[in-house]
Amino acid sequence: MIETVKTAPIDGQKPGTSGLRKKVTVFQQPPYLANFVQSIFNSLSGFEGKTLVLGGDGRFFNVEAIQIVLKMAAANGFGRVIVGQNGILSTPAASHMIRKNQAFGGIILSASHNPGGPDGDFGIKYNASNGGPAPEKITDAIFAITKTLTEYKIIQSNDVDLSKIGAVKLDAMSVEVVDPVTDYLAMMQELFDFDAIRGLFQSGFRMKFDAMSAVTGPYAHRILEDVLGAPAGTVLNGTPLPDFGHHHPDPNLVHAKAIYDMAMSADGPDLCAASDGDGDRNLIIGKSQFITPSDSLAMLCANAHLAPAYKAGLAGIARSMPTSAAADRVAEKLKINIFETPTGWKFFGNLLDAGKATICGEESAGTGSSHVREKDGLWAVLLWLNILAVRKQSVAEIAKEHWQIYGRNYYCRHDYEEVASAGANDLVADLRAKLPTLKGQSINGKIVANADDFAYHDPVDGSDSAHQGIRILFEDGSRVVYRLSGTGTEGATLRVYIERFEDEPSKLAQDTQMALADLIAISRDFAQIAKYTGRQEPSVIT
Ligand code: G1P
Ligand code: ZN
Repeated sequence: MIETVKTAPIDGQKPGTSGLRKKVTVFQQPPYLANFVQSIFNSLSGFEGKTLVLGGDGRFFNVEAIQIVLKMAAANGFGRVIVGQNGILSTPAASHMIRKNQAFGGIILSASHNPGGPDGDFGIKYNASNGGPAPEKITDAIFAITKTLTEYKIIQSNDVDLSKIGAVKLDAMSVEVVDPVTDYLAMMQELFDFDAIRGLFQSGFRMKFDAMSAVTGPYAHRILEDVLGAPAGTVLNGTPLPDFGHHHPDPNLVHAKAIYDMAMSADGPDLCAASDGDGDRNLIIGKSQFITPSDSLAMLCANAHLAPAYKAGLAGIARSMPTSAAADRVAEKLKINIFETPTGWKFFGNLLDAGKATICGEESAGTGSSHVREKDGLWAVLLWLNILAVRKQSVAEIAKEHWQIYGRNYYCRHDYEEVASAGANDLVADLRAKLPTLKGQSINGKIVANADDFAYHDPVDGSDSAHQGIRILFEDGSRVVYRLSGTGTEGATLRVYIERFEDEPSKLAQDTQMALADLIAISRDFAQIAKYTGRQEPSVIT
């Protein structure tokens, strides 16, 4: 029976960089979740009788939220929902599931790399029929509807048993509970040379993959250990836990330090890798050689032709603006286009759909390709394995050769997390005000070649996105970029991206923070970070 429940708008349900993220305790208060789900449905039309894909990263409140979404999808007239067993679907697997089944769209429940558990974060986002995050025009429409919503629809029914694979009816709608790994594994087998990777493991190559007690556990166990023959124990923290074992499921050098230390030890594995809460990010560390995500993007693009799916070459490369220009040098050599987009995977969707870009990446540990419309953590790991299997060199050797050929973009990001929003906004406003007169000026002896607030014109649909980050470009090719995070749930997070190109990397210190010391000082002084945030040092350096 369909029930129409009266409700009232809830303030602040504005989807950010990737959907709506808030504390679990906020989502748990009815009608917070129901209001947002109804707003998603009201922003769409023509889905009656069509298919919706549904799944999440297994965090606290995942299964409760899935039951609510199922009952609302049935009440709103969807014909079928495909849901991952036990509510589990990694973000890239959900994207694939939408595409493979030609679904109308999908709802993904995740707060990505944010902590979980009863006091942690929860999130929800809508992906369109191309499998990618809803473009801004849809998220803007959803937000507008949240401000005027007066009722939502839900059916009265028992919960669906999410543990049993198979189809059941929920009123007139069919619910198909599917294994979350099978289809994703089949796609990876098509993209990569599994025999070559199997041979690599047989030859004694050793890796550790840290699933961080998050969604990639079942995927990694099945693909790396069961199918590719990596020894048992290759996958660490391989069981998804609602609170990620009290850890932050963020594969950076702070939260994945254990695996970093392993890679740096004298008898460490040949490759250490990790993924985040919902499986779309990746961390790659060779034996004694950390690869920054920006470098990883460039190295994957330079070597992608070694994997079956990309042997014909790449149509183009896309990177988010704050990502280093290392990939630009590869594109130049390959004579293909490079696109610079605002932060957030949704901006790659049109380029991928139009066949203008094949591989995309962000400095925030996200890389992916046209196989889905999300970044894909395990995909990046498998592409690295495929390349290592063919080149028969270590990660460090591949990196060294890459820098010799292309030069090296020294790069780091400093995050000032959970600072007061007012101060962060003032800092940005102050920077913006300084922009018009910066060109030609000297900051600590470095001359500004150009300074702007990044704006993007989408070459496919013609849409414009302004205020996407403040860039200060210096005459020597180095740069500092500032932007505020769109994914945090408390206060504001200031991200500062620092980059310097060196065509003879042997001239510079190996240590990135040392190589970038003068720019780091500029980044702090110029924006008066201590004054506006009260912080002397960033909380996370990557
Ligand atoms: C962050 C990353 C961005 C990524 C997003 C979702 O967003 O910086 O590259 O697409 O998470 O994973 P931000 O918090 O910076 O808005
Ligand atoms: Zn993620």
